[in-house]
Amino acid sequence: MMSLVTDAQKAGRRVGLTSDEIVITGGNPLIGRIGVRGAKNLATKAMVAALLGETPSVLRDVPEISDVDVVRGLLEVYGVVVTSTAPGELQFDTSNVEKAHFAEIDAHAGSSRIPILFCGPLLHRLGEARIPDLGGCRIGDRPIDFHLDALRAFGAVVDKGYEGIYITAPDGLKGANIELPYPSVGATEQVLLTAVRAKGTTELKNAAIEPEIMDLIAILQKMGAIISVEPNRVILIEGVDRLEGYKHRALFDRNEVASWAAAALATRGDIFVEGALQSELMTFLNVFRKVGGAFDVEDDGIRFYHPGGELKPVTVETDVHPGFMTDWQQPLIVALTQANGISIVHETVYENRLGFTKSLNDMGANIVVHPQGLPDVPRRVARRDFEQAAVITGPTKLHGADVLVPDLRGGFSYLIAALVAEGTSTISNVGIISRGYEHFIEKLAALGADFEYEG
Ligand code: EPZ
Repeated sequence: MMSLVTDAQKAGRRVGLTSDEIVITGGNPLIGRIGVRGAKNLATKAMVAALLGETPSVLRDVPEISDVDVVRGLLEVYGVVVTSTAPGELQFDTSNVEKAHFAEIDAHAGSSRIPILFCGPLLHRLGEARIPDLGGCRIGDRPIDFHLDALRAFGAVVDKGYEGIYITAPDGLKGANIELPYPSVGATEQVLLTAVRAKGTTELKNAAIEPEIMDLIAILQKMGAIISVEPNRVILIEGVDRLEGYKHRALFDRNEVASWAAAALATRGDIFVEGALQSELMTFLNVFRKVGGAFDVEDDGIRFYHPGGELKPVTVETDVHPGFMTDWQQPLIVALTQANGISIVHETVYENRLGFTKSLNDMGANIVVHPQGLPDVPRRVARRDFEQAAVITGPTKLHGADVLVPDLRGGFSYLIAALVAEGTSTISNVGIISRGYEHFIEKLAALGADFEYEG
């Protein structure tokens, strides 16, 4: 049971906290040193990849987040023996993979989108896959049409039922030529996890090339896969008959680093993030500097700090890698409420990822969301007709409020806003934040935040 006593509690103030809410008193700059481990959006996929190995795999730097727990539960439902072999280290023994009952799958799928990535490995191992309706953050309708079209291209038969999806591969899985309508991270992972053991060669066009994708390719190569990343988002995969287990240290979590950096900026703080690498954060660092943030790159991490003076407004458009990641915009927007001028954040990846700004306005921010994006900005992906743009006017004085966490990154953004705000905020539904931010409560305490939490 985590119960961190803070100044407010020492002062004897009692607050009726539920275990899923945190009461933050703003005004303290976040100052100190924290560590960031493996990326939520890599570690969970690496765990699925272990299913493809005929021998055990070991993954290191696994973050203690609930999305990892969900995938661990699903692997165990299929008979994988998952063992914690050291702090942050998991071993996967797949020697007894077996069919699972749908009810068990559904019970473990939780609020994750990862189950859809089990399709390829399960089809290779068991000849069938059952996928429940998927969860994930409510930041858009989150369709899986690219995934299902790719699986059909490999020869899979997809039956959609009211419970979910039942997939078989009566004639096995054969290499295919696939071009994605959009460089989708998940669909690219779907193709990789299916093609590596398909018969023949697969050519994937318009692939996502995020660092997490490259790290997954590195894992698959260690297992015996033959994958070449060509120019212009083309990936070639030569199917092989057998894959072995891997030993791998997960890539660090870029999204968590960017979130703490935005918190340092917004609270006029100074945070050293151990494990952060400049090479995977170049675009973020450019924007961070343009807003007026300062950073020092060291061998063991990056120091993010507010150097004093005013923050400057910027115009940012989210994009696929190497552009500005959509996962970075929500925490950044809170810092932009403190910038001196008008900033614009144009969200082009998801159709509903700016809804969280309403509660920021309840705290005193001045953010207007244009549902149709910016009229004069050419549509990068024509069919994305719900692109949105947030116009943020600052600086605005934020005051405490009671807010409800809507999604993972929006929830972290509310933590930042409450830390900036004058007075006290009660943030409910904070359990969502632990889906992707390892030990965020302890890290807030280590950085000097003033809060009450009885987890
Ligand atoms: C991954 O989601 C990440 N999640 C997201 O991070 C991240 O924002 C996203 O990639 C983009 O980088 C995980 O890795 C678990 P997409 P994913 O397929 O794979 C549309 C976070 O906060 N699309 O690249 O689901 C989709 O609706 C999360 O950590 C289809 O239309 O993202 C979206 O608009 C949030 N059909 C766009 O493509 C499909 O079949 C990008 O989605 C698949 C996607």
